Amino acid sequence: MTKQRKGLPLKTLHISQDASHSSEVLCRAADILRRGGLVVFPTETVYGLGGDATSAASSQKIYAAKGRPSDNPLIIHIAHPEDAARYAYVCPTYERLAKAFMPGPLTVILPKRDIVPPETTGGLDSVAVRCPSHPVARALIEACGVAIAAPSANRSGKPSPTCAAHVADDMDGLVDMIIDGGECDIGLESTIVRIDGEDAVTLLRPGAITYDALCMVVSHVTIASAVLEKLAENERPLSPGMKYRHYAPDAPLVLLDGEREDVLAFLCEEQKSKQCAVLCYDEEVSSLESAMLYPVGRADDIAAQAKVLFRHLRDADRASPDVIYAHLPPREGLGLALYNRMIRAAAFAVRRIP
Ligand code: TXA
Ligand code: MG
Repeated sequence: MTKQRKGLPLKTLHISQDASHSSEVLCRAADILRRGGLVVFPTETVYGLGGDATSAASSQKIYAAKGRPSDNPLIIHIAHPEDAARYAYVCPTYERLAKAFMPGPLTVILPKRDIVPPETTGGLDSVAVRCPSHPVARALIEACGVAIAAPSANRSGKPSPTCAAHVADDMDGLVDMIIDGGECDIGLESTIVRIDGEDAVTLLRPGAITYDALCMVVSHVTIASAVLEKLAENERPLSPGMKYRHYAPDAPLVLLDGEREDVLAFLCEEQKSKQCAVLCYDEEVSSLESAMLYPVGRADDIAAQAKVLFRHLRDADRASPDVIYAHLPPREGLGLALYNRMIRAAAFAVRRIP
């Protein structure tokens, strides 16, 4: 289906999920990419806004479509872990990480080769490399024959899209094609690490490849302070993305910290006096008013909560509440990634109950 939004430059071709695996569609998408066009494709984390990683012009188009500052570098997506050597200088630590976690939701920062233009890396000498596991993503990169540079397919300042409808909300008329791959499995962006030398990495962005999983493969894993805390004034970020304002809903998001029953009692009281949206645990649904209620999964199911976070934040924000409440997630395992995204969306607003 092709639609053209008023005032927007492109007629976007929408590919249904049923057709997303067809070789005809993938050839057409690869052709668009090789000619310098933009294709949104599904990955196991979030949707990516793809262009030819070796083309300066394509990367500039990505920044324009996203409305993103061009010094915030892009991740390049490869079909096989060993393809990294074509675009970057690999090392034994990369090879160990690749063997353990690729294809999958891990991005590794490596020194870049000349084939990757500075427009793709925001002027940096390093490049972020990721080999996604989603079959449509891999087939597309393979068909394209070149790495695909892709940030998350949201307009800058919106949450990353985890389904094709959210992509269409942000990108219709700004890209050549959107491939629907259904709901993304993980729902949070990939883990990003920088290699610091032999057997040492710094975790720049937590994701589904957890700190503990990294520690099984690399002896020294440092968590960058900006993962958990606000970047201090004048502090130079290790990753340019750290310095940008992340998605923040129009209504203030407040994270509640305390005993489960105290937090639930607080929510019940707040619902009586305020127009509040609540991201609650499934177990709490029957105790709360149903208006603007967004169940995120069971309290102990962090994977379920990660998967729906961005969707619920988009929906809750659209309902125009006075305030959005959610539980403060734990920082262990995948919880660290959830915490990292939520604390930023909340602009670090945590309320201790009682
Ligand atoms: O799961 C993901 O990683 C998704 C899917 C589409 O693959 N992509 C994604 O891209 O989240 P994006 O552009 O939204 O986030 C990339 C992050 C940015 O914060 C950027 O600053 C950082 O990666 N980054 C990219 N290249 C870098 C580099 N050379 N050095 C340090 N940080 C880098
Ligand atoms: Mg992003």
